[in-house]
Order: sequence, then structure tokens, then C-alpha cells
Amino acid sequence: MKGIILAGGTGSRLFPLTRVASKQLQPVYDKPMVYYPLTTLVEGGVREFCLITTPQDLPRFRQLLGNGAGWGLSIEYREQPRPEGIAQAFLIGESFIGEDPVALILGDNVFYGADSFQRAFAEFQSGATIFGYHVNDPQRYGVVEFDSQGRAISIEEKPKAPKSNYAVPGLYLYDNQVLSITKNLKPSRRGELEITDVNVEYLRRGQLHVSSLSRGFAWLDAGTSSSLHEASAYVQTIEKRAGIKIGCPEEAAFRRGHLSLQKLEALTDEMPDCEYREYLKGVIEEAKRLGK
Ligand code: G1P
Repeated sequence: MKGIILAGGTGSRLFPLTRVASKQLQPVYDKPMVYYPLTTLVEGGVREFCLITTPQDLPRFRQLLGNGAGWGLSIEYREQPRPEGIAQAFLIGESFIGEDPVALILGDNVFYGADSFQRAFAEFQSGATIFGYHVNDPQRYGVVEFDSQGRAISIEEKPKAPKSNYAVPGLYLYDNQVLSITKNLKPSRRGELEITDVNVEYLRRGQLHVSSLSRGFAWLDAGTSSSLHEASAYVQTIEKRAGIKIGCPEEAAFRRGHLSLQKLEALTDEMPDCEYREYLKGVIEEAKRLGK
């Protein structure tokens, strides 16, 4: 499965932080925001990526992530000159997707507790798989309504009167039909190709699978100053308590077998003396101890 990371937009809600660096490059505690969605997809088994961002920000993402080879991945880049909707990512990334299924993740979504995703990735065969997560403020999101059997019956984008508290997080798995579905979409009233309209079409075709994320799972979006701060505080709390890192692509690539122990060691040796390096050294020590 291919992976698209959408890291476009003007980041206007984070102004003036976003005057010189885009939203998805801002720190969420100890790492750039984009590390988190990238890691989520690597954990799900994705190895080939296309990162979509604005023409101004593209060189900075390239500077940060390169072509991915150092992590055993491949990362291509495409431009989205204007924010014309999440679903536009499929049109921009069409040649990258080719004939394959694709996972789309939003560059400002932070997930923790990836086990549910790993199952969804592993079991994905056709149609679409999206997720439902109980939130306090569903009107800010795409909202999914379930019937008494737990089957999805409607999805609405930012409804004034939400039919449930289940928001749809910014991670979507689609088969290749997503290309033709997106080509037939009309822009919404806000002038965007809505991801919710893609999901509505899969629902209409009877091919939408909605997986509810359990209570122990954390989904944070980091698009406003306070949600950015909350995401940082959350990551810090978990990392300090558990002694693990959330959103560490080197570790995820290593655990998935894309990066050998030798390569991980070489990469870590090149890092300046910092907490991140110490953490990776711990990962290496443990792997050696366990004979991996
Ligand atoms: C977008 C989608 C919405 C989804 C949300 C997840 O909202 O349109 O359906 O629930 O991402 O973060 P936006 O980022 O445009 O507010």
C-alpha cells in the first residue's frame, strides 16, 4: 500500500508561528509534527510515500526527510499550490498511486496506540477503511453515524447538529477506486474537494468499513495553538512515564525491518548529542541484548 502525507495549507490558525515554517514542521514536544503521521504509516507497513505540501514549504520538508533512503523508505514530493481540499491529494498524487491502494494521512494528526491501525492495515483488501473516535466537539470534524448494529449509516462534514460524537480522524485507507471517485467529485460550498464526499460515495457503494477506535487510543490534532500545546503535553507525559518515544520514524523503520541494526547504529552515531540520540541508542542496546 502506498502512503500520502498531506502537509499543505497556510496554517493560518497557528499564525504567527507559521510565518516562516509550515504547521507540519512545528514541534510536537520533541519532534517535528510530520514525524508522527509518517511513523503511523510506517508502523502500518507503508514504505513508499508521497508528501504533498505548498511550493514554499516543499524544500524544507525535503531538507528534513530527504528521499527516505536513509530510513529504508522512499519519499517523493508533490506541490499543492492552493488548499483546495483533502481529496485533491489523490489527483496530485495520481501517478504516484498508480494501480495501488493508498493510505492518506493528514500531517497534523497525532495518533498513539497504533495496534488498532496495524490490524486495519493488515486486513485491508478493498473498498475503504476509515475510523471513528469519540470526541467532545464533533462539529469540528467529519462525523459518522452508526445504526444499532454498529454499521455506519451517514457521514457529514462539520455538521451544525452532529448525529453522533464519533469524529473521523485524518487517516483513510482506500482501494484504487479512490482515483475515479475523486475525479467525479464537485467542490463543496467552501470550494474544496471534500474527503467526506469520497467516504460518502464508498458508503453509497456499500464498501465503506468504519472501525471504532477504542477508549485507550489517543487521537490529537495539532492545528490550533491550544491543540498543539495539548499534543506536546500529551507526548511528553507518555514519553516520560513509559520511556518510549511516540513518532520516531527511525525506530519504526527498524522494527518493521526496513533498517538493519548496523544502519540504525550508523545513523544514530551521526546525530548530535541529544535526548533523541540517547533514546535510539537504548533501542539498539535492547535489540543487541535480545539478539535481534
Ligand atoms: C478534516 C476533514 C474532516 C476530518 C478532520 C480530521 O478537517 O475535512 O472530515 O474529521 O480533517 O482532522 P479540517 O482539517 O479541514 O478541519
